Parts: sequence; C-alpha cells; structure tokens
Amino acid sequence: METKLKPIDTRIWRKKPLAAYEADMKKSELKRVLTRWSLTSLGIGAVIGGGVFVLTGIAANEWAGPALALAFVMAGVACAFAALCYAEFASILPVEGSAYAYSYGTVGEIFAWLIGWNLILEYMMGATTVAVSWSGYFEKLLHLVGINPPIWLMNDPITAQEKAEKLRAAGEIIPDFAFAVNLPAFLIVWCVTYVLVKGIKEAASTNNAIVILKVATVIFVIIAGSFYVDVANWTPFIPAPVIDAGGQQHYGFNGIVTAAGIVFFAYIGFDAVSTQAGEAINPKKDVPFAIIASLIICTVLYILVSLVLTGMVKYDSLDLKAPVAQAFADIPGLTWAVYLITIAAIAGLTSVMLVMMLGQTRIFLGMAKDGLLPKNLFASIHPTFKTPWKSTILVGAIVSTVSALTPIDKVSELCSSGTLLAFAMICGAVWLLRVREPNLERPYRTPALPVVATLGICANLYLMYNLRTDTKISFVIWCTLGVIVYFLYSRRHSHLNNPEDHQ
Ligand code: ALA
Repeated sequence: METKLKPIDTRIWRKKPLAAYEADMKKSELKRVLTRWSLTSLGIGAVIGGGVFVLTGIAANEWAGPALALAFVMAGVACAFAALCYAEFASILPVEGSAYAYSYGTVGEIFAWLIGWNLILEYMMGATTVAVSWSGYFEKLLHLVGINPPIWLMNDPITAQEKAEKLRAAGEIIPDFAFAVNLPAFLIVWCVTYVLVKGIKEAASTNNAIVILKVATVIFVIIAGSFYVDVANWTPFIPAPVIDAGGQQHYGFNGIVTAAGIVFFAYIGFDAVSTQAGEAINPKKDVPFAIIASLIICTVLYILVSLVLTGMVKYDSLDLKAPVAQAFADIPGLTWAVYLITIAAIAGLTSVMLVMMLGQTRIFLGMAKDGLLPKNLFASIHPTFKTPWKSTILVGAIVSTVSALTPIDKVSELCSSGTLLAFAMICGAVWLLRVREPNLERPYRTPALPVVATLGICANLYLMYNLRTDTKISFVIWCTLGVIVYFLYSRRHSHLNNPEDHQ
C-alpha cells in the first residue's frame, strides 16, 4: 500500500495562527485564580530584589555616584517602553509563554524561539543570581546572631578558595578544604521548587505576604533614611569622569549609562506578569494593568531609595555587598534596622526566585505546547496540583546546582543581556502586528506606538551595547547554541509541521 506523505512546512518564519491561541486557552488545565492585584504583587515580587538591595552599592560607588537616581531613571525609561508594548501584546494574547508566545503569532518561529531562548537567560540565570545573593544575605543574618559557618559550606568552590586565600593573607587560620558548595543557595531553591510544585494559589499567597514585607521595608528605608540625609553627600551630583586602567570611564555621563546597565537588573521581572496570563481571572485587562502598575511602583521606590542612600552615605563609602543594610549599621540607635532590612532582603529575594522560576516553567509550557520542546517533560501537568511539576523540578535542579557550584558575578549581566534583547524584540513585534493586523481586538493599545516602539528598541539595544565585552561574547555563544537546538530539534517537532496537532 502506498502512503502519501504530507508536504511539511519547514519555513523558519512560519507563524502560529492567532486562532490556535484561542484553542490553547480553552484547553488550558491551569486554574484561573489570579486577580489584578495578585498579578501586580507577582510583578513587584519579581522586581524588588538583588538589584536594589545589592547592586545599588556597586552602581553608585563605582560608576554613577549620587547620580545613581539618574541611572535608575534611564533604565526605568527603557523598561517603560518595553512595558507599554508588553501590555498591548498581553491584552491581545493573554496566554502563558510571554514574549515568546506573542512573537510566534506575529513575527515567526525562529524569532519566537530566540526570544524564548533568551528568556531562559532572564528567568533561570536571574533566579540563579538571586539564589546566590540570598545566600549572601542569609550568611549576614547568621553573622548577626553570632553564627559563623565554614567558608566551604556557604560558597561555590572557586569563590570559597578565593575568600580563603584572602583571609589567609590577612593572617587568619583557615583549614584547607577539598570541596565547597553554596548550601544555602541550593536548599532555598528546593524550598521554592516545593512551593511551586504544590500550586500557584499557595505560591501567590506566600508571595503576597513577602511582597508586603518587602515594600514596607523599602518604604521604611526611604522614610527613616531621609532623616539622616546630609545634602552635602549629593555634591557633586555627577562626579567628574575617571578613566580606569582598562580604559573604561567611571562617573560622568558614561558612568551613569554603565550604572543604568547594571541596575537594569533591578527592573527585570515586571514582564513575569505576562507569563501568568494563563492563570489570570481576567487576563485581557488585568495583565496590562499589572505590568504597568508594578513597573511604576518599583521605579518610584528605586529613585527614592537611591536618593536616600547616596544622601545618607558618601557614594565612595557605600558598601558593595549590602549597601542598604550597611547604611543603617553606622547610625547609633538604629542597628535593629539592620536586622529588619536583612530579614526583608532574605524574604524579598525568595519571592523574586519564586516568580522567576514560576515564569520559566510557564514559558517552557508555552514552547512545549507548540512542539518546540519535548511535551512529556515540559507540558506535563500534575493531576492534583495542576502545575507543570516535571519542568518545575527540572528548573529547580538546574538553578540549585548552578547556584551551588558556580561563581555568578557575571551571571547577572548575562541575564540582563538576554532580557534587553527580548525587550527590544518585543517592541518591534508589537509594532509589526499593528501594521499587519490593524483590526485585531486590542483591549489595551500602546500610546504613540511607532515612537514608543522605536525608542524602546533603541534604548534597550543601547544599554545592551554598553555591557562588558565578555558578557557580549558569552551572549553570542548562547544565541548560537539556541540556533543549533532549533535546527536539530524544535523545527522538526514544531506543531506547525502538522496543523492538526493544534486541534
Ligand atoms: N529585579 C530582580 C532583582 O532585582 C531580578 O532581584
């Protein structure tokens, strides 16, 4: 008997039909439980974390001086353009998968795949970076209560050896160790994984409680800290440029731009709201609301924190590891605030991890449903918990292992580079869709679209261009790997090869 082979559409620019998204939404097994404020809380939960609690010190001390607030404005503006575009997309296609899903329906498969691939950098590397920051703050808390665990239990092997050598050089007796592991980072990732496997509702209520503590602490820092601002610390607001041995400019305008690239990490996460659309009660209205609301709230808080911090402590004396907590440590009578800030930072970083890992599994779910990733691993929903449990455990395993064993000082920039490119791509894609499908129902419309999209593309690519060279090289390697995986697996398994798979 002769079998007739169907012609296979292998074009890399093929698009997922918009009707297929509607069908996916109807078939979704995820529970719709998230309100607009739960979504906003998820957004803030993903945003306020290591960026403001840790990176403000480096950005002000080494790059921007008191003009750190301007760096936050600059990064916030780049994010705002992207947020406005995200919001329109989320209102048209309220499906899990975020920017990946939007561009699959508009620009084409390879473009969507590359966005999805870069979102792995954003979410998984973001969660990894935050897990290690969490461990740092946890160690600080242990020190505060008089516990000093061995170096080899609190750091990855390379960082542990570096720290041990420094301490030995300073005259301390540090016994040799053959192996080191960042145990707190490893364990916290598994705790978060457990919450995520159990269910989004539990995750959302845990997150709400943490977000309240985190925002309350940031507001406390702003109000209490403002009483200790010495305006003399703000002068000069933009310190004179200094060129280092490697030819890189610190301070001055270029220093502020570099600082903006660093603190951009602090904004990452507002887009995580769009990965939860499949679980929102009223996604078309509430997801755009939550994206914009969480970005506005965080931008205002960040600018105020930067002004207070650089007003409390002269920029060149700001602590590099825990600048916010340290600013209060030097004020007599306020040492209790150091405990409060440290505990809030620990809780806050936990919620960032929660949302980042949650977002990652939902993006995988979207990609697997389209056949670009193996379905039995990434789209398998737990019968009782209704969560993508296998991929959650896989994400937990990767994030916990990498954070336990790898020095991650460069990982935050790699995370930013992937996000910046995804933001620029999304600005272009929303514009393209307006041109191609002008009559599509748009519950939210980005204002002044061609201008906002153009500015969004330019601002995000400009920040990306200003990242360090080795970050850019690593990024190119990552993208190349993505293209290889696409051609070896995803293109061959895409459901667009067989449109019946979408039924
Ligand atoms: N915005 C998140 C943070 O600062 C990633 O930790």
